[in-house]
Amino acid sequence: MRVVTLDHPADFDGWRTAARALAAADVPAHEVTWQVAGDTGDLLATAAEPPPAAPARFSVPRTFVDLAESVVCHSDPARFGLLYRALLRLRETPRLLEDKADPLVDRLEALRRSVARDIHKMRAFVRFREVTEEDGARFVAWFEPDHHIVRRNAGFFVRRFSTMRWSILTPEVCALWDGETLDFTPGATKTDAPDGDAVEATWRTYYASTFNPARLKVKAMLKEMPKKYWRNMPETALVPALIAAAGTRTEAMIEAGAPAPHAQSLAELAAAAKACTRCPLHGPATQTVFGEGPADAPLMFVGEQPGDQEDLAGRPFVGPAGQMFDKALAAAGVARATAYITNAVKHFKFEPRGKRRIHQTPQTPEIKACGVWLAAERAQLRPKLIVALGATAARAVLGRAVTIGKTRGQPVPLDDGSELWVTIHPSYLLRIEDPEAARAEYDRFVADLAQIRERLGALA
Ligand code: URA
Repeated sequence: MRVVTLDHPADFDGWRTAARALAAADVPAHEVTWQVAGDTGDLLATAAEPPPAAPARFSVPRTFVDLAESVVCHSDPARFGLLYRALLRLRETPRLLEDKADPLVDRLEALRRSVARDIHKMRAFVRFREVTEEDGARFVAWFEPDHHIVRRNAGFFVRRFSTMRWSILTPEVCALWDGETLDFTPGATKTDAPDGDAVEATWRTYYASTFNPARLKVKAMLKEMPKKYWRNMPETALVPALIAAAGTRTEAMIEAGAPAPHAQSLAELAAAAKACTRCPLHGPATQTVFGEGPADAPLMFVGEQPGDQEDLAGRPFVGPAGQMFDKALAAAGVARATAYITNAVKHFKFEPRGKRRIHQTPQTPEIKACGVWLAAERAQLRPKLIVALGATAARAVLGRAVTIGKTRGQPVPLDDGSELWVTIHPSYLLRIEDPEAARAEYDRFVADLAQIRERLGALA
């Protein structure tokens, strides 16, 4: 049996030197015991043969080195042995890591992911408290990682807080930065760290004021910020109260929205709407997507809300639903350029999922909050005919819910003398899977648009 004693639990350099020498001497994995100095495994060392002395050159893919640098930080005692096994196999199978179905590769990947998550949590949840020392201020944080990540993560804090003097205390090892040098010292206890400081109240106020109740998703929040981290984060004392008040605060934000807009033209309205904060949707969206079209258009189309592409482009109906809409308009003989096109809600409502933004249907408070803009657009434009594309648009214009199937194909008189026509939203056509059904619905939509064109002609 060979025993390798590493200097510390995440001693990648020590592991690499020993592993290279062992592999060059063809020592099988089951003949190597890996231990960390100070661990109980030291007992074995007396009876064991040391690893071969001369490290041999041994080339492995860079991806393996990256993987190993992460995996050595895991708290699994088997990590060094698993990596050594992988190293031996890499000599025969250089592309081993590409085989995701291989149980060893799979296990190493799982360890890597777990370390990456712990590193992320440390970056997100370390909270420094200021203490005054003889030679000035120092910022001290207490953190309890799941894995041996402090050394690997310290560089991040050096770069981020390079001009501060700081210490991150953890049970296993502490990282200390004095503005020039990074040191690691033995572990500490929570009582070595300060409990609070003068800026904590400010930090709590900041957190409470940036907490957006309308974006609250308790489950997602707990997943991202597990409760075990809360005890070292001053702002978390506020979380239960903020969650409890979220519903009422969202309503209040909408109620307290800006006064109804006064403008001389659609262009002025569009400019004013850019700064709209009447409901919380303005926060995550890229920009307000206002209506567009001739100021004297007799025909107004109202959609639901901008989608992902509209949000980025700042124009309504330019994404996939817009392209379907354009095709149907052309088929019905309606020139898009002669109509005014807008939406019931003028900010994109979505839920972030990884890199994607998933559309969410706007609800009554948002439709109501945005209703002032739709009313102002109607007042400026005075269209003869309004077309609601879908149920949200119909609700926004009428102030009540209607069933599309029952309302479709006939005019609904409006208070200002104009009339409303309700039809489907073009995105509905994109969701129908059966090609025949999709074709039939498309034809019906084109027929609705053609009927609207004829009606407009009759009203002229
Ligand atoms: N869907 C809408 O309702 N409006 C747009 O602008 C785009 C997609």
